Amino acid sequence: MKKIAIINGPNLNLLGKREPGIYGSTDFETYFESLKALFPNVRLSYFQSNVEGELVTAIQQAGFDGDGIVINPAAYTHTSVAIGDAIAAIKVPVVEVHISNVHARESFRQLSHVSAKAAGTIAGLGLQGYELAIRYLINR
Ligand code: DQA
Repeated sequence: MKKIAIINGPNLNLLGKREPGIYGSTDFETYFESLKALFPNVRLSYFQSNVEGELVTAIQQAGFDGDGIVINPAAYTHTSVAIGDAIAAIKVPVVEVHISNVHARESFRQLSHVSAKAAGTIAGLGLQGYELAIRYLINR
């Protein structure tokens, strides 16, 4: 059975309530249930934190066994050298996901400390980006 970890960064615990015009009106717990139903043969785990160091620890923990990580580092994408370094340090492939199209937004969202170390990035496809990232990691 494939094993894939989903890691979400700050403010994504407010998904569904937070700027729904940008991020939609579904909360991640509900979406995670539909992901588990969609991939019954994948051992999916989900972790969210608003704390940078906790995200680094989660990346390290998921980084040496299993089949990959799907990460949305949220605002830390644009600021966190530590998260970029953690992704560079681990063995499993990482797919970076952004719900919104960061390239069509403010200029500070154009910089990612993660993209260069990720297998690839999906941005702007809404929550479906997580599903597509999982499909990539399964087929890899
Ligand atoms: C985000 C985009 C980031 O710029 C932002 O800070 C987020 C969410 C996205 O999923 O679109 O919190 O990662």
